[in-house]
Amino acid sequence: MSAAPRITIAEAAAHSGETVEIAGWLYNLRRSGKIVFPILRDGTGLMQCVAVKSALPEETFETLRNLTQESSLIVTGKIRAEQRAPGGYELDVEQAGIVQRVDEADPYPITPKDHGIEFLMDHRHLWLRSRRQHAILRVRHEVIKAIRDYFDSHGFTLVDTPIFTPAACEGTTTLFEVDYFEDEKVYLTQSGQLYNEAGAMSLGKVYCFGPTFRAEKSKTRRHLTEFWMVEPEMAYATLEDVKRVAEELVMFVVSRILENRRAELVVLERDVSKLEAVQRPFTRMTYDEAVKILQEKGSEIQWGADFGGTDETLLAEGSDRPIMVDRFPAQIKAFYFEPDPERPDVVLGVDVLAPEGYGEIIGGGQRIHNLDLLLKRLDEHHLPREAFNWYLDLRKYGSVPHGGFGMGVERCVAWICGLEHVRETIAFPRMLYRTTP
Ligand code: 4AD
Ligand code: MG
Repeated sequence: MSAAPRITIAEAAAHSGETVEIAGWLYNLRRSGKIVFPILRDGTGLMQCVAVKSALPEETFETLRNLTQESSLIVTGKIRAEQRAPGGYELDVEQAGIVQRVDEADPYPITPKDHGIEFLMDHRHLWLRSRRQHAILRVRHEVIKAIRDYFDSHGFTLVDTPIFTPAACEGTTTLFEVDYFEDEKVYLTQSGQLYNEAGAMSLGKVYCFGPTFRAEKSKTRRHLTEFWMVEPEMAYATLEDVKRVAEELVMFVVSRILENRRAELVVLERDVSKLEAVQRPFTRMTYDEAVKILQEKGSEIQWGADFGGTDETLLAEGSDRPIMVDRFPAQIKAFYFEPDPERPDVVLGVDVLAPEGYGEIIGGGQRIHNLDLLLKRLDEHHLPREAFNWYLDLRKYGSVPHGGFGMGVERCVAWICGLEHVRETIAFPRMLYRTTP
């Protein structure tokens, strides 16, 4: 629309003193007599523009003066350093072209005033434009990229695992059933782990990274019915190897965020010192020790019970770094966990609990590699052997000790961003009572 080069707001510093074009949306507008200050957003930042009546054609000035929130527009003007402006630069408007003007009869529904969470969730498709949601999505992207970079640079091969699966991995109570063809039933995946185990016997170290589904009837701040999980799996690996990789991964992700996403953490008012305090080694304890600590802190938990959300919060209270709890009672864990050879009533599983009460972000451990024991466990868990025939083959043809874990992206992002609830960590959350927009 003008001869000036199109730049993004993030690039403004490199164009100080130049006339450029910026394409975006009207974030906010301040009027002050013969000057209006439209604040533009373009996905990369905010830019305060300055439109002076005497310097513009009457029509352009009036159009800007009466512009409605979230109207789309392209402005041309000169970039000028201005310490007081958000981002440190302003744009002196020379031209403005409106792409679509929001009708004031049907104004943008999200205004600077407070809205309830249900209203915001119903308008999630628009709410994403807010500064806070923008910042969270940027952190999420960086977390995912860091996870991939970690595994890609540590000898892991990405192997995508199926979403339609014939069997349960994490227990039958949280399976979503889907009608497949000709009366066949399949389930949405709860975890790619079983397939990862096959991949690891081919490639040594693999990971899968994709959406995961749990028909969790729990309405908590930590549960989604659809979430993203990264799952590494390693052949010839023990519980200790699993714990080392989990610790390295978490350190890698937190460091990367501190390196690249400080500005977003400021928008989120995150206490960054809490993230800076995350150091190796993480605190390590057994389930037995954890139960003792919890009882001392007043929890009613008894040996043999799974931790509730409050137990996880209580346990991590006062710890500046994540906590790794291992050797859980076999009865509360999935069928595939290797028993502790010194104490078969507990299994070689580990949970990593985030500090500040964010709860479990990682679960994993060492898998059963003995065929007979695995068969016994399938029966104990009332799982149909036929559905696991292929999985059992892995124990017949060169079975080796192996292990891995799963890290939930949303739990991880909630912790890093310091969010109350996981619903804000994914663009379109799926929860017990929410499947729209
Ligand atoms: O502990 P989980 O259930 O472990 C597994 O699925 C293993 N098969 C993983 C493996 O060893 N390959 O889930 C792993 C992580 C949890 O620690 C949590 O971060 C996340 O996945 N998670 C959820 N996140 C959001 N909503 C839910 N309903 C979640 N359930 C698990
Ligand atoms: Mg778990």
